[in-house]
Order: sequence, then C-alpha cells, then structure tokens
Amino acid sequence: MTARKPLIAGNWKMFKTGPEAAETASRLKDLVSDVADVDIMVAPPFTAIAVVKELLRDSFVHVGGQDLFWEVEGAYTGQISAPMLKAAGCTHVIIGHSERRQFFEETNDSVNKKVRAALSEDLIPVVCVGESEAERESNLTSAVVQNQLEEGLAGLTSEEAQYLTVAYEPVWAIGTGKTATTEQAQEVHEFIRERLKTTYGNQVANVVRILYGGSVKPNNIGELMAMADIDGALVGGASLDADSFAAIVRF
Ligand code: 13P
Repeated sequence: MTARKPLIAGNWKMFKTGPEAAETASRLKDLVSDVADVDIMVAPPFTAIAVVKELLRDSFVHVGGQDLFWEVEGAYTGQISAPMLKAAGCTHVIIGHSERRQFFEETNDSVNKKVRAALSEDLIPVVCVGESEAERESNLTSAVVQNQLEEGLAGLTSEEAQYLTVAYEPVWAIGTGKTATTEQAQEVHEFIRERLKTTYGNQVANVVRILYGGSVKPNNIGELMAMADIDGALVGGASLDADSFAAIVRF
C-alpha cells in the first residue's frame, strides 16, 4: 500500500464529443461525490475540457489536458499552450504518452520542453514512460525507462521535481488486455523511485506519485494498489465508462 494519497486518472484519448463527455462527467460526479481519500482526474479531448470542467466545478474531480505545446502563444496552428489549459480549469497535463511518441513524433526532448511549460503554469505534469514489448524481451526495460526519465526531466531542480507525477505505462499493456503482473509493475515503479531518489533526493522521491497504466480495470486495480510503489493509475479504456472508472476509484 502506498504511503502517498493515490491518484486515479482517466485518459479519454480521442473519445467523446462534448455532449458525450458531459454525460460521462456528470454521472462520474455523482458516483464519486463521497470519495475523499483518493485524488481523481479526467483528461478529456481538448474540445470537451470546458464543458467537463463546468460540470465538475464543485466536485473533487480534477480536469487535465492530454498534451500541450511548450510555447505560450504564437503562430502554431493546431496547438494548445499551458496557459490555455490553465485558463480552461486544468490542474494536470499528460505529457509523453506512448501514443504521442509512436504517432506524433514525441521525443524525450519535446517531453522536456513540455514539462517545463507545464510547471511554469503550475500544471502538474503526468510524465509517461514505458518500454515496448521488444525492449522488455531484450531486457532493456530499465535502460529505456532511465533514459526517458533522464532526458525527459533533464535540468529540473528538486524544487521543480516535487510537483511531478510519473506514469509507468508498458506499451505492450496499453489497450491489449495484457496487464503487467503486480510484481513486474512494482519492480519498475521501485526502479523509478530509486532514480528519483538519486537525482532529486529522498524527500522528492517520497512525494512524487508513480501511476501504473495499461489495461487497468476494476478487477485488477486492487492488487496493483497493494504494492508499495504504485500510487495510482492512469486508465484508458475503462475510464470511458463512468461506472467502471468509479469502481476503479473505489478500488
Ligand atoms: P488502457 O487502459 O486502455 O490500456 O490505456 C492505458 C493508457 O494508455 C492510459 O494512458
């Protein structure tokens, strides 16, 4: 069991129009209205952030972006900045999701710029790391994750690093129904915490939450949350339905 207050976050990816997101958000609000011991966040598509935020205004459920661009404003057609997310009521932003790395040329370098942009607006960056199936099979998991952390978080001070959330999402477990075993997940989470300790010191390593992501469902969240270094979850598919997401929140 984690020593930190858990965070259960839902990444809605490219699902839900505004009206669909509104329906899910209002049902979720009712279902988790009495939950105080877990932090909750949902990251709708950009076009639904405003309506979701409005519906969740007087609830404990936080709203986050799924990505951002590092510049504050400018001629960058199609991009969304940290101040825009902040003004829309976001508290968190997912950065470096493996789908962005795979399909949208996200690199550790762009992750680094985005993390800095988020921190400068007091948005909590939820920085995603994780290995592919081939990398795991070649025993490269630690090396890959270490590199993603070192380059993605390069230059951050301990003062800044305390505001991070890290999400470990093994690429082979995303949307596949394959979850890492609790032992596999805990092993990498422990490794990430060790790296944070080495780089930023004990105090930071003890407060930074490390979420697990990859086929988290109501029936496997309990065993994941029983592990010492798993501080919550970043949930994809099962967060689209308010009832299953609420069941995960109530692990
Ligand atoms: P699934 O829960 O659908 O496997 O997605 C995980 C994920 O990518 C969350 O960011």
